[in-house]
Amino acid sequence: MTARANARLVAAITAKFRDRYQGEPRLFFAPGRINLVGAHLDYNGGDVLPMAVDRGLYAAARLTTDGRIRLCSLDQDLTLEVATGAIGNRAQQGQGWGAYPLGVWHCFREKSGLNAGFELVVGGDLPMASGLSSSAAIEVVTAVALDALHGTQLDRLQLALLAHRAENGYVGLRCGIMDQFASALGRPGQVLLLHCAGPRYEHVPFDPRACEVLVMDTKKPRRLAKTGFNERVAQCATAHEILRTHVRDLPHLAQYSLSDVEQARDAMDEVLFKRARHVVTEMERIAKGAAALRRHDYGALGAALDLSHRSTAIDYEVSCDELDLITDAARGCEGVFGARLTGAGFGGCAIALIRPGLADKVAAAVAPVFEARFGVQPAFDVLRAGMGPGELPAA
Ligand code: GLA
Repeated sequence: MTARANARLVAAITAKFRDRYQGEPRLFFAPGRINLVGAHLDYNGGDVLPMAVDRGLYAAARLTTDGRIRLCSLDQDLTLEVATGAIGNRAQQGQGWGAYPLGVWHCFREKSGLNAGFELVVGGDLPMASGLSSSAAIEVVTAVALDALHGTQLDRLQLALLAHRAENGYVGLRCGIMDQFASALGRPGQVLLLHCAGPRYEHVPFDPRACEVLVMDTKKPRRLAKTGFNERVAQCATAHEILRTHVRDLPHLAQYSLSDVEQARDAMDEVLFKRARHVVTEMERIAKGAAALRRHDYGALGAALDLSHRSTAIDYEVSCDELDLITDAARGCEGVFGARLTGAGFGGCAIALIRPGLADKVAAAVAPVFEARFGVQPAFDVLRAGMGPGELPAA
């Protein structure tokens, strides 16, 4: 989090809160994330390597005593006021971005039995809905705020699980645990190595003097992301079932080997075979990527990113022309270790690992190639491994 962005956003959400709801809020932050390697492995019981970044969601919040929840945002037009008694198990039409905080409130009430309403103003310095987990950041910042306002002292693991439950249940995206865990367990200068089958995790240092993460935003909206994502989850579940029947019984798809998948090839159609092949080979790439990160070999880590992108494009089919071109163009630049899409895909952002200090050069080389093809100016930003979520001092 840069000091300037922090101060500007904290001042803006505080001012909006005072203006709309009168009175003083408490202030909170939760980061977004990029994922280095391990694409679509979390819901398949595999390993992932996300990094909480120095950008995210800021929230000004206070409990209410009138049984109402009131939500507004600096960036979205939609404001909501809902009676707590009207909140069920699933998001309602028209709740828009508000489904995330409402889902967390619902799960918090289920867990703690506490049902006071709250007022919330959010604002962020992450591009929204573009693969950097702005939704997980809203969920985690709401969970952190409710926990602090009620004094329930949930630990970060519980907050991550609560936020994940909100997304899976209330919002209805069948995602794995990566995004909420990455946001809730982020640490400055560290990457999270998350074994989703446990779940177990450890932190691995990232050396900013040897490598930087350049985020490249294609600005391509991820319109089909939810349907396409849930379809991939269902395909993996079917492939897993076929492997259990025809090869052997393992708890997660990510635990099979490539030879297992090849053995079951005749029982699967081409699409299922490709999905399963991506998952099992991505496990090999993440093992290599994590080992490379431990020895600060960013060349080898970058090679794992390149191969991961290829597999997500060809076998998993969640890339698009924009993401393919922007990563290709970055790979052609001097000082780029590797590049891939980040998040679910279908548009949004890609990342490139680059030698420190080269971001402007890479951006200047990539932007005209992208613009010539798509008529859109991509955005570039260097993101660092930032702090985890927490309460901020009053503005
Ligand atoms: C989205 C989901 C995550 C994960 C990634 C793909 O970000 O929310 O759970 O599945 O896609 O790796």
